[in-house]
Amino acid sequence: MAIAEFLAELDQLAREAEAAFEAAGDADALEAARVEFLGAKSGRLKAAQKGLGRIDRADKPTAGKQFNRIKQQVEAAREAAAQRLARGGVSREETRRFDPTVPGVRPRLGHLHPITQTIEELKDIMGRLGFTVAEGPEVEDQWHNFEALNISPDHPARDPLDNFYLATAEKLAVGPPLETPPTRSDREGWLLRSQTSTVQIRVMEQTKPPVRIISLGRVYRPDTADATHYPMFHQIEGLLVDRRVTMADLKSILRLFGSSFFEDDVHIRFRPSFFPFTEPSVEVDMSWQGGWMEIAGAGMVDPNVLRAVGYDPEEVTGLAFGVGIERICMGRHGIDDIREFYKNDVRFLHQF
Ligand code: PHE
Repeated sequence: MAIAEFLAELDQLAREAEAAFEAAGDADALEAARVEFLGAKSGRLKAAQKGLGRIDRADKPTAGKQFNRIKQQVEAAREAAAQRLARGGVSREETRRFDPTVPGVRPRLGHLHPITQTIEELKDIMGRLGFTVAEGPEVEDQWHNFEALNISPDHPARDPLDNFYLATAEKLAVGPPLETPPTRSDREGWLLRSQTSTVQIRVMEQTKPPVRIISLGRVYRPDTADATHYPMFHQIEGLLVDRRVTMADLKSILRLFGSSFFEDDVHIRFRPSFFPFTEPSVEVDMSWQGGWMEIAGAGMVDPNVLRAVGYDPEEVTGLAFGVGIERICMGRHGIDDIREFYKNDVRFLHQF
């Protein structure tokens, strides 16, 4: 057989094989094309290989080389088709036609809880006024929650019905006892703190005046949950102790605090009140949307409290205030039910 004829046949075979593999739309069609062209017994390449034996001796090396090249070409076409089907039948061409300008699917990002956002903002505002953040435990003893705060043993604020005492919880508890229960004296009177004023005592016990701190965190009171009450909520406590601190400083600080948080030029109104740990004591109202909103309890630190932590009330005076974080967050955003904060319903939370 003349070499020219042989090469022409090979070319033809290669073109037909490539077309067949490209057209294969599923695994069966691919297999049929493979058998037709690459089949070991009666494939068309096998037949062409037999034709090699009839080529003139001198032309054999050229013909052999070309045969191998065509065989590789057909193998490659089969491989490409197999890969295309594995990708779900989309051809290379089509993959390349991916359009990067088509809008994608936006992943949904979470964000901080509105109470956490408020806390961060309050830290920021008070930080600018020179207050640093102090922390205290949520399980407190009688001294820090009551006694040092001038709340005597017979004071109604210590009533078991108004506090979460651990001993009461323990009596009501079901289940196996702790492996190593704390000794009786360790836990005498322990409770979940009912106010962040506990941190005033802890800070003053550890530092000499001047003191300028805020403390933010959870407090617990056995209130039935309704639109304005929840058995756990958050407070921010402020304490400033120095020489010649007065009620005027208290008012200025609260006004700056309110104006920064509510991004408005607010006014502050004091109403006489009573707290065992401040004298005088006030309820603080802030002008807001045409009315007054109660935002804090406050006052001048009682001399008995200063004495309890070893300060000299003749030397220094102090101001203190406690603000309900849920309340001001609700006021600013127009939220009318405190329980919404704790339902963890994203439809509510994602609005902030
Ligand atoms: N601890 C008081 C409360 O929980 C608030 C307060 C703080 C009052 C500091 C005066 C001074 O209501």
